[in-house]
Amino acid sequence: MSYSMSDPTPSLSPYALQAAENRQRFIEIYKTHITRDGADKLLAYLENSDFFTAPASTRYHGNYEGGLCQHSLNVYDALVDILNRPRVKETYGISYSDESIAIAALLHDLCKVNFYKVSTRNVKNEQGRWEAQPYYTIEDNLPYGHGEKSVYIASGYMRLTRDEAFAIRYHMGFSGPEDPGNVGKALEMFPLAWALCVADMEAAYFMEGSPKK
Ligand SMILES: [Fe+2]
Ligand SMILES: [Fe+2]
Repeated sequence: MSYSMSDPTPSLSPYALQAAENRQRFIEIYKTHITRDGADKLLAYLENSDFFTAPASTRYHGNYEGGLCQHSLNVYDALVDILNRPRVKETYGISYSDESIAIAALLHDLCKVNFYKVSTRNVKNEQGRWEAQPYYTIEDNLPYGHGEKSVYIASGYMRLTRDEAFAIRYHMGFSGPEDPGNVGKALEMFPLAWALCVADMEAAYFMEGSPKK
């Protein structure tokens, strides 16, 4: 699509345009694969929250408008790919339904819903003048943990299988403040947790790249 000078200027920023596309893709994947009781209510909750505009972090990966939804989709793509590896399927015999894969990936970071706020601070611009610049800050009104909180929110709307719950609970792997013995046990007992943890790192470190200032 092209615009001439006389066209009304589109008001959406590039991030907002990408966010709108991602929102559409997220909802499509969600509705196609997540069909159990309560799934529609959980989606309605997300649509009424800041899920589709929130960042994925304040300073690290996805720290821009729509970063959380983008990150969730990146984790979904990475997770589908990991679970399709012949070694994973044939040698380890790991297999999950499309619904479990979508639930684990799309909902693993629900803990970040209504979690980031925009604040401002004064910084010097190129001309050496101070000006107010927006930045993301954290305001957690439900301090229930990270993976724990995502499981808690999702479970308020629909039942998770044990594999899904453990996968979301332990998706930070050994980088969270966990007892390493519990993490190792969980990743071994519930391979969806291992795959989600790897997909989460792949998305954050390789698909999302350097943070935007
Ligand atoms: Fe996370
Ligand atoms: Fe994540």
